[in-house]
Amino acid sequence: MSLPLLLVSITLIFLVFKLYKGIRFKLPPGPYPWPILGNLAHIKPVGCRNFNEWSQIYGPIMSVWYGSDLSIVVLNSKLAKQVLKDNDHQLASRPRRSLTAKVVKDGKDLIWADYGPHYVKVRKVCTMELFSPKSIEALRPIREDEVRAMVESIFKDCTNPEGYGKSLMVRKYLGSVAFNNITRLVFGERFENEGVMDQHGLEFKAIVEQERKVGQSLIIAHSIKLLGWISWLKKGEIAKHLAHKDAFTRTIMEKHIQSCNKSGKHFVDTLLTLRERDELSEDTIMGLLGDMITAGMDTIAIVAEWAMAELIKNPRVQQKAQDELDRVIGPNRVMTESDLSSLTYLQCIAKEALRLHPPTPLMLPHLADADVKIGGYDIPKGSHVQVNVWAIGRDPKVWKDPLEFRPERFLEEDVDIKGHDFRLLPFGAGRRMCPAAQLSINLVMSILGHLLHHFHWDPPGGVQLEEIDMFESPGLVTYMRTPLQAVPRIRLSPNLYKREGVCD
Ligand code: HEM
Repeated sequence: MSLPLLLVSITLIFLVFKLYKGIRFKLPPGPYPWPILGNLAHIKPVGCRNFNEWSQIYGPIMSVWYGSDLSIVVLNSKLAKQVLKDNDHQLASRPRRSLTAKVVKDGKDLIWADYGPHYVKVRKVCTMELFSPKSIEALRPIREDEVRAMVESIFKDCTNPEGYGKSLMVRKYLGSVAFNNITRLVFGERFENEGVMDQHGLEFKAIVEQERKVGQSLIIAHSIKLLGWISWLKKGEIAKHLAHKDAFTRTIMEKHIQSCNKSGKHFVDTLLTLRERDELSEDTIMGLLGDMITAGMDTIAIVAEWAMAELIKNPRVQQKAQDELDRVIGPNRVMTESDLSSLTYLQCIAKEALRLHPPTPLMLPHLADADVKIGGYDIPKGSHVQVNVWAIGRDPKVWKDPLEFRPERFLEEDVDIKGHDFRLLPFGAGRRMCPAAQLSINLVMSILGHLLHHFHWDPPGGVQLEEIDMFESPGLVTYMRTPLQAVPRIRLSPNLYKREGVCD
């Protein structure tokens, strides 16, 4: 077939398909899709901002075509409730495609599992065993140790003669605390010592990086059918990556099996102990371990970095938080997680940071298992559904002065952050809500509390507060576009900056 004929045929098929959908379903409005590409050519890199702009034209629910995949994006709390509560059951699966499916163990994990008996089983294991209040408490020494290690490392860098008075890249320290914390929780391994990553750690980082690249390259290939050959070309590369990742995880699992540590508290021990009782296959255990690393590594560092940027931009808030820390903890000891419940203003700061800067601003995509209606429109079976929690957190209809970083709003009104109030959804809500919400809140608060109790933070010399770049980088998770630079000044006596000791 000649090229012009091929293009005409594709356009005709597309128009017939559009006509069929248009007649059969009343879809939400949205930008007109091109044949093959859909709206891919129109979507700007930072999706949450882009859809928020489009909502001025199309309203709070819109159809967006990623190639031939229809995605419904909702942007207000009323519609979010319809997605995550009223129709939760039919919208609780995840979109997966052939090759990406292999990367996520064909949905035998948790994050990418379809809603059904397998999902219910592994979700229960995660909620009851990995993220129960008892497990969170058992893992507390690890979190506290890692946060102390971060303080020690910043102290060393800002008191050594070369670093004194100079700005630091805050993300470097937050990235370390998040990485070490998650590898210890999940694998019981700390790959970094004295700021140096060992061979195993470097190998693991390379695996995580490779997975990110593979994932990105496949997203487009999956949406645009004509680019399916990219997936085919990448088959070998992906198989090699998966074999490497599995071998790495299996070695760690073997080590834990050999040590026969039935009372081990790390995720790998817990899952190995449960494998017979709960009939967990090797793929499921490896999938779950991988999920925790993927979901837990970037998110914590992202929120903490945005919160620090807001605290530096708002010296009044920073001062008020430090006053509270001085009042509750004082100058003679270090904060612990037992202090969290007494640090009311710090709790509000964590909420305010998550309101304005949720690290997964469009959550994770949901998949419609059946035809449903949202906001009076049809959502056909097979559509993807995205909730723009970034836009909902900034909606002027529900938040007063939404763009202002003002933690006091949560003293005036106690808004739930764990899926019960649809104005504030950084962890999602309903069946697929983040199972690690409480653990994450504890860790984020602990990081911020230590950073503010031990140090005062200023922007680098010559940088005005309004010059700090508050724009997101593109991606499923949104780091700050420009890594935050800041100058720490110590506030406590030097003997309080030492990490006490390593506990597993
Ligand atoms: C501040 C930190 C975090 C935020 C804001 C966050 C947010 C989210 C969101 C929005 C979802 C998707 C909800 C949905 O699709 O409806 C999610 C899912 C998930 N998160 Fe988190 N997360 C955080 C940290 C973590 C950590 C530390 C872990 C693990 C150690 C984790 C594990 C998971 C898992 C396993 C899922 C999939 C749940 C499912 O599909 O049933 N998250 N998270």
